[in-house]
Amino acid sequence: MKQQPNQILIFDTTLRDGEQSPGASMTIDEKVMLAHQLKRLGVNIIEAGFPVISEGDFEAVSRIAKSVKGPIICGLARCVEKDITAAAKALEEAENKRIHIFIATSKIHMQHKLKMEPDEVIQRAVASVKQAKMHFDDIEFSAEDATRSDPEFLIKIFSAVIEAGVTTINVPDTVGYTMPDEYAELINRLNREVKGIENVVISVHCHNDLGVATANSLAAIKNGARQVECTINGIGERSGNAALEEIVMGLKTRHDLYKEFTSIETKELLNSSRMVSQITSIQVQYNKAIVGKNAFAHESGIHQHGIIANPETYEIMRPEDVGFNGNDMVIGKHSGKHAIKQWLVNNKIKLSDNEISHLSQQVKSFSDSRKVISDADIFKILSKTNTNYAKI
Ligand code: KIV
Ligand code: ZN
Repeated sequence: MKQQPNQILIFDTTLRDGEQSPGASMTIDEKVMLAHQLKRLGVNIIEAGFPVISEGDFEAVSRIAKSVKGPIICGLARCVEKDITAAAKALEEAENKRIHIFIATSKIHMQHKLKMEPDEVIQRAVASVKQAKMHFDDIEFSAEDATRSDPEFLIKIFSAVIEAGVTTINVPDTVGYTMPDEYAELINRLNREVKGIENVVISVHCHNDLGVATANSLAAIKNGARQVECTINGIGERSGNAALEEIVMGLKTRHDLYKEFTSIETKELLNSSRMVSQITSIQVQYNKAIVGKNAFAHESGIHQHGIIANPETYEIMRPEDVGFNGNDMVIGKHSGKHAIKQWLVNNKIKLSDNEISHLSQQVKSFSDSRKVISDADIFKILSKTNTNYAKI
């Protein structure tokens, strides 16, 4: 795949890291269906699973590899021989394939989890890249827990794996610990000091434990990252991963600031979000940026008036651009006469100014005791309070 200057590659890991969300497991058929949707969405790389982990994962990766043509299909592997062999086998029939190998590089992980010395970790990583090269041209290497690793060690291991033949290096904030300025500085330093960095893509992978996964990813882009790993609806381990829809719309909406673009078909964002939510049974919170039910809903009278006059008064994105059918005027206690007028127009009901004022007051007092007012509630109020309504 040819990456254009200023293009940010979107590496979707909903099927792998996303599936690691507690309770989010998906059947093989559901994974294949979602992979086709990710292709429609225009992602560049689909991380389809971790083939060695289970028969189901192996089967899902290999079915996706067989049937989804276009995007790069990627399989995850530890720096372990049998993992790399399994990934190579599962991806045999892919049109475009990548292996993603990882090993931990922080002191705490090397000592307590791997029980390996730093030099052994480098040797293992290099040996794994060499094994992977027998099956793949496209090899991504991740330094797990990179943001809690010694930057000098990261420079050493990344330089070594680049020399051994990797094409992408990934800098995961595995535990969601880093902050935007700090992460930006790390990416900037790696970009300056890793040997051979100019020949590979720098990728970022952020978790959301402190709520800054999207901010971290965008800060990294400003400092030379050219691939972002993310998931639909931000699902993933613990508090999740950076949300694909937030990164894509951040870059698009603030093009004045970033200049980078993605190949994402943004009108497919809502469909993708709904499919993931339906398959995983993980509901999207109402106020979730971009794809939440309330993302383009307005209840305050002042805002509703502004939106009716010109949507740009209170909307920085067009709802249609992410797949919604226009904005949503929610009638509630904060709504004013303008919203009621719009509601009447939408429902093809004609009332006099006096009747509109009266209806608006009735709606307000009714909504004092309710959180949200439905269309049916307004129709009920109308029929009780407006003698002409029956004739309309
Ligand atoms: O969070 C993480 O470190 C990962 C790696 C496997 C990239 O998911
Ligand atoms: Zn992760």
